[in-house]
Amino acid sequence: MSIVSPGEKRPRVFSGVQPTGNIHIGNYLGALVQFVELQDQADCIYCIVDQHAITVPQDPKELRQHILDVAALYLAVGIDPKKAIVFVQSEVSAHTELSWILTCNSYTGELSRMTQFKQKNKGRESAPTGLFTYPVLMAADILLYDTDIVPVGNDQKQHIELTRDLANRVNGKYPGTFVVPDGRFMKSGARIMSLDDPTSKMSKSAVNPLSRISLLDEPAKIKKAIMRATTDSEGIIRYDIENKPGISNLLSIYSTFTGTPIPELEQKYEGAGYGTLKKDLVEVTVDALAPIQQRYAEIRNSEELLKILDDGAERANAIAEVVLKRVKNSFGLGR
Ligand code: AMP
Ligand code: TRP
Repeated sequence: MSIVSPGEKRPRVFSGVQPTGNIHIGNYLGALVQFVELQDQADCIYCIVDQHAITVPQDPKELRQHILDVAALYLAVGIDPKKAIVFVQSEVSAHTELSWILTCNSYTGELSRMTQFKQKNKGRESAPTGLFTYPVLMAADILLYDTDIVPVGNDQKQHIELTRDLANRVNGKYPGTFVVPDGRFMKSGARIMSLDDPTSKMSKSAVNPLSRISLLDEPAKIKKAIMRATTDSEGIIRYDIENKPGISNLLSIYSTFTGTPIPELEQKYEGAGYGTLKKDLVEVTVDALAPIQQRYAEIRNSEELLKILDDGAERANAIAEVVLKRVKNSFGLGR
């Protein structure tokens, strides 16, 4: 579906993925699919948000590798550096500068209400400050590029709302400082659930590797994870998140990979057993990931990847500098 009417200015799109291992089909179907779809209709900027990753402890050597892993995956899923800017967050220092300005305009009350923070902080007496202010850095990422649209998974909805609140709050004091962005979510891929526990979202950090399918998983692992996925005992293939979260999740994955609407899948599998649906989904998933894995292998260790990131940082910096200057002017910072 087109997001621009003829003659209209192309909208600006910005999104980011954290450079941690195990990028999975939830990240792909919820976010990356949209990144690719939007690049022909909008001015797209895709970031590898390494400064977000250090809100929890990281091994420096692994972090460096994961930054390049995510960059290579961006290209492998089909992001075209001729159409979109791809860059590493810490290579554009304006992100943390703007983050401070926004921090001074945010409230501890609203940050305390962020569900992701509450989850990550469960059971701790004292939270790392970066974990607490993480949504403000995310708001800075977005606002720094005069972003109109932010394609993300459902779990980021609250952070997008906060970004809008911060932008509106500053604009209330200093009109015209920020563009107020909108989130964009997939119809069926916005929240892919864990295969072993379909009541919690598929996540990079879950202990059980069979809870997720990573984009670089081999066919044997994909098969094992899907065939063992938790379902129910009803034996009927229908979409019902409340009562059948497991089957509904498998249908969502199938539908988003193939573009087949869920009602059509329900019809196709009328009278069939769960085993049949699972076997077909293994094939769909393996076939969808094979070309991504092949491109990834070609790009991951190439010089070209480094050049793309150099060029991306330069282009991102050029945009960010102009916006940061405007913001500093609004606030009366500097001379
Ligand atoms: P992260 O890995 O947290 O940096 O997330 C990268 C992108 O993937 C964000 O847009 C998330 O909203 C999205 N995402 C993460 N997990 C899921 C999931 N289980 N289902 C759908 N989208 C997801
Ligand atoms: N917080 C997002 C996540 O965990 C990643 C992210 C950081 C992001 N900055 C962003 C997403 C800006 C969209 C726009 O998934």
